[in-house]
Amino acid sequence: MNISQQTSNLRNREAPLEIHGDEFRKLGHQLVDDIAEFLDGLPQRPVTTEESPQAIRKLLGTDILPERGSSANDLLDEAADLLFDHSLFNGHPRFWGYITSSAAPIGALADLLAAAVNPNVGAAVLSPIATEIEAQTIRWIADLIGYPRTCGGVLVSGGNMANFVCFLAARKSKVAWDLNAEGLSASNQRLIAYVSKETHTWIDKAAELFSLGAKSVRWIGTNADQQMDLDALEKQIIADRADNHLPFLVVGAAGTVGTGAIDPLPEIAAICKKHNLWFHVDGAYGALAAVIPGASTELLGLREADSIALDPHKWLYSPLEAGCALVRNPHHLLEAFSHHPAYYNFDGVIEDPPINYHEFGLQNSRGFRALKVWLGLRQVGREGYIQMIGDDIALAQALSKAVGTYPELQAVTQNLSITTFRFIPQDLPDDPMAVEPYLNKLNEELLNRLQKSGEAFISNAIVEGKYLLRACIVNFRTTLSDIEALPEIVIRLGRKLDSEIRPRSLQSG
Ligand SMILES: Cc1ncc(COP(=O)(O)O)c(C=O)c1O
Repeated sequence: MNISQQTSNLRNREAPLEIHGDEFRKLGHQLVDDIAEFLDGLPQRPVTTEESPQAIRKLLGTDILPERGSSANDLLDEAADLLFDHSLFNGHPRFWGYITSSAAPIGALADLLAAAVNPNVGAAVLSPIATEIEAQTIRWIADLIGYPRTCGGVLVSGGNMANFVCFLAARKSKVAWDLNAEGLSASNQRLIAYVSKETHTWIDKAAELFSLGAKSVRWIGTNADQQMDLDALEKQIIADRADNHLPFLVVGAAGTVGTGAIDPLPEIAAICKKHNLWFHVDGAYGALAAVIPGASTELLGLREADSIALDPHKWLYSPLEAGCALVRNPHHLLEAFSHHPAYYNFDGVIEDPPINYHEFGLQNSRGFRALKVWLGLRQVGREGYIQMIGDDIALAQALSKAVGTYPELQAVTQNLSITTFRFIPQDLPDDPMAVEPYLNKLNEELLNRLQKSGEAFISNAIVEGKYLLRACIVNFRTTLSDIEALPEIVIRLGRKLDSEIRPRSLQSG
């Protein structure tokens, strides 16, 4: 076909990807019907299927890129079946692994709407209403946890990214030279960040990727409750200054990833003030628990932070992905991230300046992830979140109590909505040196079997060298009956496993 033939056909262009109104309506109604049935039937399904990656790969059939298209109807049917029958469901009432929440159904509808309109929330002119909805969402998140609503903020993909944004804002604000122009090599002082040894692995990535190097992270020890040792923190800061290093950042945890421990945030704030350091709170998991009336003063110390990372896709139950970075002084975000290339025409008028989110973070083009968060907040309000987060915490406490009533289970930690425990057969010899390694092996293998069983899904934590089973309840579908079922599942699988793998040396009689 020559060019003039091709362009003449374009007067009534019919693109292969287009789906017009009637067909779209039909496809959409069918898909929504299928999703509604799937959601209603979730409790009757196993949490996950025990299929190998190879078996799953085979389900996709041919690996040859199609030359020609297929009917959208058939494709959506097939995709829905693949997902409904071969997924791990974090929306299942018995999913308590890692820190991934059940997703609010309104979030799924929000994502459909957001994708249909498809605003680019990098610049206000490209996303007029979406930008204002994101800005309002950020103010409301700040309101929920009692942080100043005048803060700067940006929605990102999750906790790692939110922590990175705050880390970069901190780094820019705390060095005296022009970091953007000169880079880190302008100084021979090493920048130092202080974190507890319970800190999530985002800090490793941040130190490595943003060229500080792993040696710039000081892993401060913790007390028996997995909270940062403040004496050790302050001594280390003083020692580093004496060594001509450049301390710039302390990270406090509002809910550690392992056990949900909350660092003494007010005291960390005071140390940061005294030593002129940026106080960042990693609240990816637990910051939103500050919404609960009577939240501990340790947690409420996050209100003094220079920045906070928190995840709507954890305790606001937004579908993945939604993280949020809050920075007390918005200028620190702009100083770290704002660029104005000549081909951007996003500045608007001085009297009514637009919010251009590309200036607040690492992304340029940005999707409308705020919509699902905003609609969730409007659907249930502050009250709804107080209820759901409070219920998750109450259920985790109930689990800890229930575990304590079974002689073969040992409850170990309980913070926020994370409960840890382990399985201990009753007839092991009284010889900790020999028994502890076996208990670690037994509980690790028990976790693998439990995860594969599809009866419930939990994950693990290591505390003082002990391998623990860990249930993290960030799940508005979980009921007390679900929680009460877990100890007996663990004991049944544990007894069977123990009978199969216990070494002769540890057998009684
Ligand atoms: C305390 C903490 N920080 C950071 C993260 C990373 O969050 P994401 O997986 O959303 O990137 C997590 C994830 O569980 C977390 O618990």
